[in-house]
Amino acid sequence: MKSIKHVASAPAKVILFGEHFVVYGAPAILAAINRRTTATARIRADDKIVIRSDIGTSAEYSRTNVGKRDTTPNEILEPIHDAVKRVLDASDKSSGVELDLQSEIPYGIGLGSSAASCVSAIAAVDSLFASHQKKWVCERAIESERMIHKNSSGADCYISTFGGIMRYSKDVGYKGLEVARNLNLVVSSTGIRHSTGDLVERVRTFREAGLLNFSELAKQASEICGKAEQSIRSGNLDNLGRLMTENQVLLKGIGVSHRKAEELIELSMKAGALGAKITGAGGGGAVIALARSRGDGARIASLISNAGYESLQAQVDHKGLIR
Ligand code: PMV
Repeated sequence: MKSIKHVASAPAKVILFGEHFVVYGAPAILAAINRRTTATARIRADDKIVIRSDIGTSAEYSRTNVGKRDTTPNEILEPIHDAVKRVLDASDKSSGVELDLQSEIPYGIGLGSSAASCVSAIAAVDSLFASHQKKWVCERAIESERMIHKNSSGADCYISTFGGIMRYSKDVGYKGLEVARNLNLVVSSTGIRHSTGDLVERVRTFREAGLLNFSELAKQASEICGKAEQSIRSGNLDNLGRLMTENQVLLKGIGVSHRKAEELIELSMKAGALGAKITGAGGGGAVIALARSRGDGARIASLISNAGYESLQAQVDHKGLIR
């Protein structure tokens, strides 16, 4: 018998503006980028949930014997297991599922690989039984993602599900932004994995120490976001680049940059980037640079690769979840 399989994919994300300050109420701007995680789901005859990921991890769980794992617990796969279980529990089926994940998204550097895995896994498994709307998929992915970062805003899952560029703030929520021109980004990795939770905690300690006027910095970050929103709408790349560099000054000020991130920013700027900054929590992680054109992006990416760092070119993904 031919086994039924369903495939879904979801994109990575970058934070263009406002990380960390968003935790204290300032806005942030996020973009989905064209690097994806693809999930392939198949029904199993037994009650097992088997998850394999091409980053070299796999795990097997029993649905009925709750909590029983046949392999060592795996921190990377826990939220994905949770996501799959949520979908199975929402269906009236007792079968198990086999899930294969293939990802083009580097893990652990703030590009939303875990959100893309949860979103694509939920959609692929859901397609075996039903076809819920994107909103349904997104809500479940956010709950599963909270296993890793319990105070997560959910913005990673949201942008991965819906794609495009959006503004997010705690009080207003999500708002899609019209993009006048596509953005050519170069994403480079310091090679240092970070823990978002630890860095958020570092900023909290910094804020409480009161050495700098944190609310003044947060106000500046909000203003930068407001101007960036206008530049995205009008397609003013020079302004947008300058604003990224200004945002980086604030991030460095609150102690979340890293020597290697600064080196990548310098390399990007020397190679002609219009602006560059860390993206996400920092403390290593990834750096984004804005290029004027695809050709400029290729030049920046190759200079960074020649300096021994992993680097990729990216454009904004407007599709989000595909199933
Ligand atoms: O997980 P990352 O690296 O994409 O960073 C999350 C962004 C923070 O502002 C640092 C935390 C948050 O919850 O918004």
